[in-house]
Amino acid sequence: MSTAISPTAYNYKVVRQFAIMTVVWGILGMGLGVFIASQLVWPELNFGLEWTTFGRLRPLHTNLVIFAFGGCALFGTSYYVVQRTCQTRLISDSLASFTFWGWQAVIVGAIITLPLGYTTTKEYAELEWPLAILLAIVWVAYGMVFFGTITKRKTKHIYVGNWFYGAFIVVTAMLHIVNHASLPVSFFKSYSAYAGATDAMIQWWYGHNAVGFFLTTGFLGMMYYFVPKQAERPIYSYRLSIVHFWALITLYIWAGPHHLHYTALPDWAQSLGMAMSIILLAPSWGGMINGMMTLSGAWHKLRTDPILRFLVVSLAFYGMSTFEGPMMAIKTVNALSHYTDWTIGHVHAGALGWVAMITIGSMYHMIPKIYGQKQMYSVSLINVHFWLATIGTVLYIASMWVNGITQGLMWRAINEDGTLTYSFVEALQASHPGFIVRALGGAIFASGMLFMAYNVWRTVRASNPVEAEAASQIAVVGAH
Ligand code: HEM
Ligand code: HEM
Repeated sequence: MSTAISPTAYNYKVVRQFAIMTVVWGILGMGLGVFIASQLVWPELNFGLEWTTFGRLRPLHTNLVIFAFGGCALFGTSYYVVQRTCQTRLISDSLASFTFWGWQAVIVGAIITLPLGYTTTKEYAELEWPLAILLAIVWVAYGMVFFGTITKRKTKHIYVGNWFYGAFIVVTAMLHIVNHASLPVSFFKSYSAYAGATDAMIQWWYGHNAVGFFLTTGFLGMMYYFVPKQAERPIYSYRLSIVHFWALITLYIWAGPHHLHYTALPDWAQSLGMAMSIILLAPSWGGMINGMMTLSGAWHKLRTDPILRFLVVSLAFYGMSTFEGPMMAIKTVNALSHYTDWTIGHVHAGALGWVAMITIGSMYHMIPKIYGQKQMYSVSLINVHFWLATIGTVLYIASMWVNGITQGLMWRAINEDGTLTYSFVEALQASHPGFIVRALGGAIFASGMLFMAYNVWRTVRASNPVEAEAASQIAVVGAH
């Protein structure tokens, strides 16, 4: 039987490539997270070498988990979802392939340049201008593939998941280009086009919306497709999903100043950022409730389906972190939480609990489908992974809450004569047990990824090219 690519088939090749790299980068990025967490427990692990210090490896961790792991998951699932919900093949195979190889090139560039110390110093936008330009080109190609595919759809309406993916693609391009405006002085060094407080404001407008659009809106696109599919129920409320979409994208863009409380930023801008962050609770929870309620009448499936557990628990962590975020945006709360491990705990409630868990659940749903298999090689291994991920996340965030509040209170404690009660080192010593628990929680979470890799490997190995090709045929009846 021929395995030649049929024009009536979906392009699953690029989806498979991104899916496999999601797992690979997930292991490397989280493994590095465990390593830098261990450096905070045992500073000897810095090895006295500049390339392996915490300061250089930390941005590599964030780039690997956000852009490599999260990015590949978003590319892969969006290409899968847009084809299936539009019942058409991607508009261009070569452009799609370019986005895959271009994206991997950006990541390899990050792995080389960040440990060498080349950085713009802007958080989550560290890559120097040649890599930033490559990233922009890949991103524009991504937009062309995604929106081009939507224009040749066979369905009448555009499924809501695509709205979220679409907003994530457009806004990420805008943020990246504006924040990266800079003057190169050499091949490896550039200076920001903005100065002082303006630079800080642009950076955190970017930084917060990287959270809002990259780590949230894109993954909500994933949620709107994979939760109903795995639960085998229609989305709870289509109307709520539209309200959710417009409210979320209208509000997120204003909240950036909550990263700059009590700084040189004008007071009114700080207060505006605080107010918008509090209002942001409403659409965030609207989306969370829409996802959760999709399980109405299907709750019993949670007893036997660990993939659904991943998806539902990710929504619970999404709800938790989007409650915590607005609270931390209140100036008086931020006065305690800022600069402490509380922020790090909040980050990972979102990053591990929401981003990683929704990704893992979606991958377990999607990978067998794109390889022509009924299900993953082992459902019990998915279950083991689920518990490792959940326990790991809880240990991580609980230890950071304890550390954060301890640090915040110790730093602000003053004696009657106005002098500080504790030195910085005393607060650091008090944080040491929390650092150990965090490293342990992280190691537990990361070990789950190894079970995933084995399970994926066995699933892929069980598949043959004929089955995989048959799976990619477009079924006109039965839609997505
Ligand atoms: C095994 C899992 C992980 C471990 C052990 C881990 C560990 C760490 C550590 C130790 C830091 C530095 C904290 C500090 O500066 O005090 C950090 C920062 C960060 N990590 Fe992770 N991480 C993990 C997974 C992830 C994932 C999956 C994501 C995103 C999807 C993520 C996103 C981030 C971000 C955004 C920061 C910077 C936070 C900030 O600047 O406030 N991490 N991580
Ligand atoms: C309604 C939703 C949210 C609001 C209002 C919010 C608010 C905040 C606030 C106030 C901070 C602390 C800023 C500081 O003191 O420096 C923060 C930090 C952060 N949040 Fe959220 N958050 C929300 C949801 C999320 C989610 C879902 C994620 C992850 C997926 C996330 C990721 C982060 C990251 C990465 C940082 C650290 C930024 C940095 O300093 O490097 N947030 N957020």
